[in-house]
Amino acid sequence: MALTKSFVAEALRFYPPVGVTARFVSEDIQTPFGELTKGTFLGIAPWAIHHHRLNWENPDIFDPLRFRSGEMIKSSRFSYLPFLDGPHRCPGSALAMRALVLALADLLVTFRWTLPDGGKFSLHLLNALYPPDGVNLCVEKL
Ligand code: HEM
Repeated sequence: MALTKSFVAEALRFYPPVGVTARFVSEDIQTPFGELTKGTFLGIAPWAIHHHRLNWENPDIFDPLRFRSGEMIKSSRFSYLPFLDGPHRCPGSALAMRALVLALADLLVTFRWTLPDGGKFSLHLLNALYPPDGVNLCVEKL
């Protein structure tokens, strides 16, 4: 089950379902990168943060083992934002993680999964990250 959990964590890093979001700044704040003034519309891109070399080693390689033994966050907790952070962080994150791990484990022991066209599919990022043409999968009962 530990590997399944690492796999889900890496899938959420590699393909964060909420790839881009935004916030209004509610008061003037000083950040390490300069001042943000009240009313600023601030874009936040978990997809870019998850694929940035300063945050992750080999960010464009899908490697569930990077989440083994607490090595998941190299620079700060803000390097991994599938559920965002702050007061509006996803309140369903713990439930989502448990449900995904259990569902994936169940699907893996029940079916054999193959990608008929070599695993090629395209992804679009429009707030949510999604495959506009879907993903072809072959599923056989084990
Ligand atoms: C893999 C599954 C999930 C992912 C990746 C996810 C991700 C997110 C993200 C990134 C946000 C913040 C969006 C933003 O403010 O721009 C959010 C908000 C939220 N999520 Fe989730 N979520 C998941 C599952 C769930 C589940 C299972 C629930 C409820 C049972 C849930 C309930 C909510 C609610 C109510 C908010 C709004 C929080 C607020 O604005 O204060 N989510 N989610």
